[in-house]
Amino acid sequence: MRIVLVGPPGAGKGTQATRLAEKLNIPHISTGDLFRANISRQTELGKLAKSYMDAGNLVPDEVTIAMAKDRMEQPDAEGGFLLDGFPRNVSQAEALDELLNTEGMQLDAVLDLEAPEEEVVKRIAGRRTCRNNSAHVFHVTYSPPKKEGVCDVCGGELYLRGDDSEETVRTRLEVYHTQTEPIIDYYKTQGLVVTIEAMGPVDEVTARALAALKREGDEK
Ligand code: AP5
Repeated sequence: MRIVLVGPPGAGKGTQATRLAEKLNIPHISTGDLFRANISRQTELGKLAKSYMDAGNLVPDEVTIAMAKDRMEQPDAEGGFLLDGFPRNVSQAEALDELLNTEGMQLDAVLDLEAPEEEVVKRIAGRRTCRNNSAHVFHVTYSPPKKEGVCDVCGGELYLRGDDSEETVRTRLEVYHTQTEPIIDYYKTQGLVVTIEAMGPVDEVTARALAALKREGDEK
């Protein structure tokens, strides 16, 4: 399956993507994680991305599309993938369509995670991310690590992401409404959007997502 996951910052895209990718046996491709890995390796791409991410703005399309394309062309993504955080505006969505068309492929579904603003703000404020791997995510109240400040998966140090400050989160939410939400309408015209409620326990949201994807698959 080829799936795009969309939703506001803190809706639980990364949390759900990890689980769904495992269940569906496809790689989880997160442009945010790819940028953060470049930042920790101090690559040129990482240095460029950091200034945009710290301010809560989108990294320019040209570098983002090239990075996403390169990752989607890796052998493990031949049979499908789950995109998390890409595309994030209409021009990225058009670029993805073009890339897929060239390869004779298409998306199967766009899974839209809905969560109210006050909830995503709470989720982000309590989120702790692993310095070794930003896909390892915890929450001080909702999913605390066994040992405070230490990643259960790899023992890495847990920290508050630089772009999780209150002020930057406000900008990220505004960017989401103005630049990312329009892709939902873009994909609605292609009949691909499946919207689910992202509230409730993580396991319940995963079950809801799998059921919605199955329904979508059965209808096609
Ligand atoms: P990115 O890393 O994609 O961040 P985001 O979209 O803002 O999403 P988040 O990672 O903040 O949240 P999430 O929805 O994954 O939630 P999570 O699962 O962690 O992007 C960061 C930046 O990179 C962007 O601002 C931009 O600068 C740049 N960038 C990335 N992609 C780009 C692109 N395509 N183009 C241009 N720039 C790009 O969950 C949040 C918390 O809630 C966690 O603590 C979790 O434990 C908890 N939680 C999750 N689910 C539940 C639940 N059901 N109940 C209770 N708690 C829960």
